[in-house]
Amino acid sequence: MEKIAQKFLENQNLNKEEFVKLIRCAHDPEVRELLAERALELRKKYYGDKVYTRGLIEFTNYCKNNCYYCGIRRGNRNAKRYRLTEEEILACCENGYELGFRTFVLQGGEDPYYSDERMEHIIRRIKEKYPECAVTLSIGERSMESYQRFRKAGADRYLLRHETADETHYRTLHPEEMSLQNRMECLKNLKILGYQVGAGFMVGSPNQTEECLAEDLLFLKELEPQMVGIGPFIPHHDTAFAKEPAGSVELTLYLLSVIRILLPKVLLPATTALGTMDPRGREKGLAVGANVVMPNLSPVKNRKQYELYDNKICTGEEAAECRGCLSRRVESVGLHLVSDRGDAVE
Ligand code: SAM
Ligand code: FES
Repeated sequence: MEKIAQKFLENQNLNKEEFVKLIRCAHDPEVRELLAERALELRKKYYGDKVYTRGLIEFTNYCKNNCYYCGIRRGNRNAKRYRLTEEEILACCENGYELGFRTFVLQGGEDPYYSDERMEHIIRRIKEKYPECAVTLSIGERSMESYQRFRKAGADRYLLRHETADETHYRTLHPEEMSLQNRMECLKNLKILGYQVGAGFMVGSPNQTEECLAEDLLFLKELEPQMVGIGPFIPHHDTAFAKEPAGSVELTLYLLSVIRILLPKVLLPATTALGTMDPRGREKGLAVGANVVMPNLSPVKNRKQYELYDNKICTGEEAAECRGCLSRRVESVGLHLVSDRGDAVE
């Protein structure tokens, strides 16, 4: 048994070198099992057998950014663009509410069409109609003022993956006009405004090293977000990274356990990307410490157009099918999908 894993179980404040060593243990089945066991104990302690669900509404695939890994980056001329109207978004929520969802995640590219006023209007309408539901936004980097306006309008949570905490790595994934500093500033602002915040990163993105991942873990420990989204990088055929290998499922699963131990009360989704790389990827994620699933509530006619990477799953099903399918998958690993806002425990 690797000594470093034992040390990590006793005290999570490892330094960068130690985190690198811990990450290298991902190939050791004994260590994987040891950490998964602890991760499950911790999840059980704080969340029992409950798995929370969030209804994902991918409301626009227009984006002003040009992240090199992403299928809906502005430079992709082949992407067929769409925007949902306010009424369409409300209809997704209505459908979702009937299916038992109590959190709606509005996710999209960075689309200036959705001005602060438009976003406020959408958030207010959802909160008026479903006051007991949480509204989560995932619309990228905005000013402190915009975040404040959305918060006042009723938004509860915000997902903004930091993507990588390593400056050099960040530069290889994004064009010059974007900056890691701004992204981190956004995350800090969101925390100041009282959002429940989600950070995260792709596993196996091009040029990612074990040192980068160690930086990610140190950053998460410092930020202490309520949610962490990780999933394997998957190439998209219309991007510069089309020929790059996808991230590893095994390493993603290992990191899910590590993150559960690092931040025991964190909300940790078993992501669609994990389910895309392995038909039982999401179940496997739940079996090593994840406790959230995010079925798709977007209209079926638009699903394929929100193509961040190749072969994305769940693009043909109606929302009800998606929820039913996930509910069965959750039960298959002895857990239960609950109809609940699913806030992080204090
Ligand atoms: N525009 C918002 C933002 O940037 O935060 C939200 C939408 S963005 C498409 C959501 C997440 O998708 C990103 O944070 C990124 O980690 C993930 N993603 C993008 N391209 C991906 C790929 N090729 N493989 C796996 N995940 C990807
Ligand atoms: Fe904007 Fe991917 S580049 S959502």
